[in-house]
This record gives sequence, structure tokens and C-alpha cells, in this order.
Amino acid sequence: MQVAVLGGTGTLGLPVVRNLAAQGHTVRVLTRTAPKDPVPGTQHFPVDLSTGEGLDEALEGVYTVVDAANHFGVRSGKVLVEGVRSLLAAEQRARVGHHVEISIVGCDQVPFSYYRTKVAQEQVVTQGPVPWTLLRATQFHELIDQWFTAAARLRLSPRGAMRFQPVDVTAVGARLADAVDAGPSGRVPDVGGPVVQTLSELAAVRRAALGQSLLPVPLPPLGRAARRLRDAALCLDNDGEAVSFDYSEWLRRRYAKPGS
Ligand SMILES: NC(=O)c1ccc[n+]([C@@H]2O[C@H](COP(=O)([O-])OP(=O)(O)OC[C@H]3O[C@@H](n4cnc5c(N)ncnc54)[C@H](OP(=O)(O)O)[C@@H]3O)[C@@H](O)[C@H]2O)c1
Repeated sequence: MQVAVLGGTGTLGLPVVRNLAAQGHTVRVLTRTAPKDPVPGTQHFPVDLSTGEGLDEALEGVYTVVDAANHFGVRSGKVLVEGVRSLLAAEQRARVGHHVEISIVGCDQVPFSYYRTKVAQEQVVTQGPVPWTLLRATQFHELIDQWFTAAARLRLSPRGAMRFQPVDVTAVGARLADAVDAGPSGRVPDVGGPVVQTLSELAAVRRAALGQSLLPVPLPPLGRAARRLRDAALCLDNDGEAVSFDYSEWLRRRYAKPGS
């Protein structure tokens, strides 16, 4: 099947592309910048979601589109919400049969502006003209680690009672690739990692793995958003599926010394 992956060079997009190629699909990678190290057999199409540029050419002959593009910042509404609207219009012109979207577990529970953008993006997809599948995932280990890495540059280690259930992005990528084969399925069960841990527990896991000596900075659950995080609003409920390995295993793989 001809499949186009928006954001196919990103943290999530790359494992989606790898899985789809391994499953025998013909894969197009749609991003602004060509991949430095393309997955063999895939083809890059330059596309800019914020302007719609390149979409019609990129979608010609495509049956399924997986949207794994992202933009975090003041233009996230422009890229993610207006972008998906023009993407769906282009899909309709190209007679695409299936749109696969990724969102975030609990994004409708926590009043962060990026999460409001994700809720708006979900609405555009679920009320849109193309048959769809929507998967929500928890935070990727990479994101949690970026937070700690940024703080560690200042010799700081954030602590707090906010709860997370970080997930292995390759498992999420595999779910999206399976969704392509399954066809339009609507909202499918949420996916997350195997354990719920507080920010303090995640910091302890990182300290044990990397042995860094950093100044602990308690983040009290002030404000509604922080209280929702403390109450595990971003974690799976009983209908979600917990998959793959935890943050400690991710750290072991990520920071393993060659030959160890
Ligand atoms: N990170 C998490 O923890 C997490 C958790 C759950 C769900 N998600 C969702 O997963 C999706 C992917 O997130 P990610 O963290 O994998 O993103 P990412 O690593 O930042 O990758 C973003 C991708 O989007 C492309 N892109 C950015 N702006 C674009 C534009 N204007 N036009 C076309 N392509 C564009 C980028 O390529 P170019 O820059 O070359 O265009 C890149 O390939 C998002 O929808 C996010 O909400 C993320």
C-alpha cells in the first residue's frame, strides 16, 4: 500500500516509517527537510503543513496518511490545527481512504495551551472528511529525558508529585503501523508505558542510571494543570494498554557505553 508519513523523520515518525517499510508498504516521508539518513526504499517529498505547500504532489496515489508531524510553540495551532485541516482537504482531493492521527493521553484533562491545540486537532480529524483512526499515547521517554537534560545543564534536578507513564516510542510507532493495516477504526485504545511514576521517582531513576550530582528543585503542584498531573491525568485509565519497557530500561539502552 502507498502510505505517506507526515513528520516521518521525527521521534515518532521515524519508527513509524521503519515499521511500515518492514511490513512491505511503499512509504513516502513528508517533511520540510529531507532525511539525512533515509530509511532504505522510502521516498522524501518536501511538504510544509503551515502553508500546504507540496501536499497535492506528495499525496498523489497515496491510500493512507499517518500524521506524526509536530510543532511546539506559538505557531503550534497554525501547524497542527490549520495544518491538519489543509492536509485533510488535500487527502480528499487525492481520494485518500484512511487518515491515522496521534494524540496525547489526557490532553483534554490538562489546561496547557499545547494540549488545547491537540484537542482542537483531534476534533478537525474526527469531524473531517476522511475515514480515520486516532491513537492517544503518553509521553515518550525521549521527552521526559529532554526535560531532565535541560535542567541538568543548569545542574538542577526537578522533583515533584506529578505523575507520568512514559512509553517506548518504538512501541507507539508499531501501533500506528498496525493501524495502517487495520484500516479506519475510529478511536483505538490508548497506549502508555508499563509504570506510573512521579517526577521525583523518575529523577531518582535517572540519578541511579547516570550518577549525576544535581541540586534537587521541588516543583509544588501549584495551579490546576500541576494538580491534574499529580492526579495522574496524563496516565492510562483502565481501558488503556501498557506496553514495552520503562524509563530505567530506556536510560540503560540510551546511555549504554559501546561494548557494555
Ligand atoms: N513527544 C511526546 O512525548 C508525545 C507523546 C504523545 C503524542 N505525541 C505526538 O506525536 C506527534 C509527533 O511528535 P514527535 O515528538 O515525534 O515530534 P518531533 O520529533 O518534533 O518531529 C516532528 C516532525 O514533524 C515535521 N514537521 C515539523 N513542522 C512541519 C511542517 N510545518 N510541515 C511538515 N512537517 C513538519 C518535522 O520535520 P521538518 O522539521 O523537517 O519539517 C519532524 O519530522 C505529535 O503529534 C505529538 O503531539 C508526542
